[in-house]
Amino acid sequence: MAHQSELIADDIEQYLKEHENKDLLRFITCGSVDDGKSTLIGRLLHDSKMIYEDQLAAITQASRTSGTTGDEVDLALLVDGLQSEREQGITIDVAYRFFSTDKRKFIIADTPGHEQYTRNMATGASTASLAVILIDARYGVQTQTRRHSFICDLLGIQHLVVAINKMDLVEYSEARYEEIVAEYQTIASKLNARDIQFVPMSALKGDNVVNPSESMAWYQGPAMLELLENVEISHDQNLRDLRLPVQYVNRPNLDFRGYCGTLAAGVLMPGKAVRALPSGKTTTVERIVTFDGDLEAAYPGQAITVTLSDEIDVSRGDWIVAEEDTVPLASTFEADIVWMHETPLEPGRLYDLKLATRDLAGKVTAIDYQVDVNSLEQRHAEKLDLNAIARCQVELTAPVPVDDYRTNPGTGSLIIIDRLTNITVGAGMIHQPLDSELPYEFREHDSKANVVWNRTSVTQQMREQINGHGGKCVWFTGLSGSGKSTLANALEVELNRRGYHTMLLDGDNVRHGLCKDLGMGEEDRAENIRRVGEVARLFAEAGIIVITAFISPFRADRDAARALFEQGDFLEVHVDTPLDVCEKRDPKGLYQKAREGKISDFTGINSPYEVPTSAELAVNTDTMSQQDILTQLLKQL
Ligand code: ADX
Repeated sequence: MAHQSELIADDIEQYLKEHENKDLLRFITCGSVDDGKSTLIGRLLHDSKMIYEDQLAAITQASRTSGTTGDEVDLALLVDGLQSEREQGITIDVAYRFFSTDKRKFIIADTPGHEQYTRNMATGASTASLAVILIDARYGVQTQTRRHSFICDLLGIQHLVVAINKMDLVEYSEARYEEIVAEYQTIASKLNARDIQFVPMSALKGDNVVNPSESMAWYQGPAMLELLENVEISHDQNLRDLRLPVQYVNRPNLDFRGYCGTLAAGVLMPGKAVRALPSGKTTTVERIVTFDGDLEAAYPGQAITVTLSDEIDVSRGDWIVAEEDTVPLASTFEADIVWMHETPLEPGRLYDLKLATRDLAGKVTAIDYQVDVNSLEQRHAEKLDLNAIARCQVELTAPVPVDDYRTNPGTGSLIIIDRLTNITVGAGMIHQPLDSELPYEFREHDSKANVVWNRTSVTQQMREQINGHGGKCVWFTGLSGSGKSTLANALEVELNRRGYHTMLLDGDNVRHGLCKDLGMGEEDRAENIRRVGEVARLFAEAGIIVITAFISPFRADRDAARALFEQGDFLEVHVDTPLDVCEKRDPKGLYQKAREGKISDFTGINSPYEVPTSAELAVNTDTMSQQDILTQLLKQL
């Protein structure tokens, strides 16, 4: 290779060592072939002498036969291989190219610029620190310029180089250059990027790419490569917040337990007081272990293994953060999602999500708005097609720590995976948590601080899918003798006959076991209903239709049970048979005993029954036939 460095020939070991210690800039080039993108990349590779000699010979030869540049070597041929593959319909996600100079190593993410490749550009931009936005000097700012800038901005790129190319075709006009710079300022004012530079150049002629231009003496600024070599990116890293998402728990033997992961943000040193999330447990870092020995300090991007001074429970997916960091735990948040698959995103559908190192199920519950990537207008959307970008509300099956992408790109992003095909179908940048859980600091003052939610991989929806129907609760309430148990029983028979998975919880039965310690006082009844509500919910989570028959005389207790269910999954049925009818029936002789004063706290006699005000259904077993009631119930279900 015709590399610049002499060392490569003289002392390969020394060269490799120097090379290893050079820092790396990852950047993306945005533009289409027509803007001269391939020529620019070719020029960077050629002028930085990163082309194999036989490669150069080949394109020199090819330029004569099929090039478009007359006598000059058509550098676009170096990189245009992909173009033909694309034309054949072969999908190239992103082509990464490597080159280096004495100062830096570079990785270029080369993605096509057309709208149908928005997802590819987003992928390329996701790891880039800088973006080169190519503009053809003849045409100035175009729709695609706006789109490219928006996508780079969405992915949080802080440094933009607006390359105003093909200056040779506008007579190297300073006025034209200034005009385009002014045009771009209207876009720039809407971007978050804090560093935007402009370079007039001709990639074809080599002006201001690697070498300064003789034809544009009016431009005093640096050439493109000089910009790329000197742009300050170390400040882009978040060294303030400590984030170590745990990738793997390493337990080779009983004496060692290490937590492995790539430090996403912050500086970590042994002795640092840390907190594990979501448990909120605190401890200190003992050692930072790497393959090459222990570290005194670890920085973002480093793959490390830490040991902790206490045996606290930390699993894959958990985060280790600084003790004083306040990270919200949330199961719902807003995110900007880029859809990457032909099958559209449907709100409400369950996907596998990956947040940092954590895998869990979740769904988009609502699309707030889709952004038209060309006009940047926001509009309503029911679903997201390939390449769509939208602000969405995301719901997870369990609360987890959530970061904002803008401050913590490493931990503030998510990947959406189709559950059946295992294909990545989307990516998102987390914007902000919605109704985040109580911060764990406050929970620590709670006596139950040590109880956490353990996450299950099989969700209610998955259980329901196997069952073929959802879990629900039909809650019968009413006086003793009103007919609750009879109706509940008849309903279960009917559902069972139709092939539904059911369970019946009946007051008298439950009081023989689960609630045998409870009496009939107000407090005990509240506890009775609380337990039954929780059990009913567990059954519903198992995907079962659970039917309960309890007097449950107090409204607050019934409402508390209702609150455990999703809206629509709890059906309160008031068995509204009048007291005198119930008393006349008196199936267990209890009304008589109560009248005789032998039972205290008897509902309807010397203890109140609070009539439901929000029941889904009220039925009277005195005036309606059982069949009619069942028909109504089944209709409600
Ligand atoms: S609840 O009020 O806590 O919902 P639950 O439905 O479990 O009551 O139990 C009611 C059953 O307990 C009645 O069907 C009846 O057989 C029996 N029972 C015994 N003592 C009482 C009482 N004081 N009031 C009502 N029911 C009673």
